[in-house]
Amino acid sequence: MTITRSVPVGVGHYLPERVVENAEFESWVDTSDEWIRTRSGIERRHFAAEGELTSDLAIAAANNALADAGLTGADIDAIVLATSTPDQTFPSTATKVQHAIGMKQGFAFDVQAVCAGFAYALTNANALIVAGQAKRILVIGAETFSRIMNWKDRTTCVLFGDGAGAVILEARTGTGDTSDRGILACDLHSDGAFNDVLYVDGGVSSTQTTGVLVMQGQEVFKHAVQKLAQTADAVLAKAGLAHADVDWIVPHQANIRIIKRTAAKLDVPMDKVVITVQDHGNTSAASIPLALSVAKQRGQIKQGDLLLTEAIGGGLSWGAVLMRW
Ligand code: ACO
Repeated sequence: MTITRSVPVGVGHYLPERVVENAEFESWVDTSDEWIRTRSGIERRHFAAEGELTSDLAIAAANNALADAGLTGADIDAIVLATSTPDQTFPSTATKVQHAIGMKQGFAFDVQAVCAGFAYALTNANALIVAGQAKRILVIGAETFSRIMNWKDRTTCVLFGDGAGAVILEARTGTGDTSDRGILACDLHSDGAFNDVLYVDGGVSSTQTTGVLVMQGQEVFKHAVQKLAQTADAVLAKAGLAHADVDWIVPHQANIRIIKRTAAKLDVPMDKVVITVQDHGNTSAASIPLALSVAKQRGQIKQGDLLLTEAIGGGLSWGAVLMRW
C-alpha cells in the first residue's frame, strides 16, 4: 500500500538580537537570577526591538527554512502560521509572510492555540497535505510575547521570550508503515473549562485593548505534566509505537521542571530530550520549531530519527505530533 506522508524537508529559526539575562529583571521586579533559574530553568530570552513585528520574526525564520530546503517562495503552496501575538487583529500574519517571501500562489492563514499552536499547525498542515489540498506547506510558529507581558507581575514576566521557527512539509509517497519519513500520527485536545488558568485579560470584542497575560502558575504546571504525558502516550498508541522507539522528545519549552517530569512519566531519559528553554524562555507557539531548528544545528536530530513533539497552553489546548525526521 502507498500513502501520502507530510515529510519535513527544511527547518529554520530566527531570534531577535536583544538578549535579556535573568539579572536584568532584578532592576524592575522583586526577583533573582537564582529564583528564575531554579523554578523554570530559564537563564535568558530574546526580546524583539521596538517596531520589530511577529511577521518580521516569522519571515526571517521562513527564509532560513527555505534556504535549508533549497526552495523559494514560488515552491510553497500554503502557509500555516501559529501565533497568539499577530501583527494586526486582521488580516493574518501568515499573509504578510506570504507576500514577503514572494509567494503569489496558494493560501495562507493563522492558527491560534497559544503554546500548543505549533502542534495544531502541524496537524492542520498534515491534514491539508493528506487531503491533496497542498503539496508543500510552510508551517511557522512566531511570537512576540514581550508585547503582552505585565511588567509588574514577577510571576509571569520572567518566563516568556520572543522568537520564530519554521518547518517545510512536503507531500511524499510512503509505504504506510512506521519506517516512513514524515508525520506518523497527531493527537489534539482542548478543554475550555480551564480558560481562567491562563489567559490575556483583553481582546477585540471584550475590552478593545490587547491586554496582558494572567496565569495561575501552579494550576498550569499540574495540568501540563498530566496532559502532556497523556497526549504523548496517545500519539504513540495511534502509530503503534512504544516509548522506547522515540529517538528525541522535542517538547514545548515552558519550564525545565515540566519537561523533566513529563519525560520521567514517559520513561524517556533526559539525554533524549531537546532542551532550549535556558536560552529562549517560553516562546509559546515558536518554541517547538525553534527547538527543532536548534537541535538540527547542534547535530542532535538526524534524518530518520523518530521525534515526539508535545505542547500545552491556554485554552487549555494541548497535543502531540509524532514524526520521522
Ligand atoms: N521571583 C521571585 N519570587 C517569585 C517569582 C519571581 N519571578 N514569581 C513568584 N515568586 C514567588 C511567589 O510569589 C511565591 O511567594 P510566596 O510563597 O511568598 O507567595 C513563591 O515565589 C513560590 O511561588 P509558586 O507559584 O509556588 O512557585 P512555583 O514553584 O510554582 O513556580 C512557576 C512558579 C515557575 C510559574 C511554576 O508554577 C510554573 O512553571 N508553572 C507553569 C507555568 C508555565 O509554564 N506557563 C507557561 C504558559 S503554559 C505553558 O507553556 C505550559
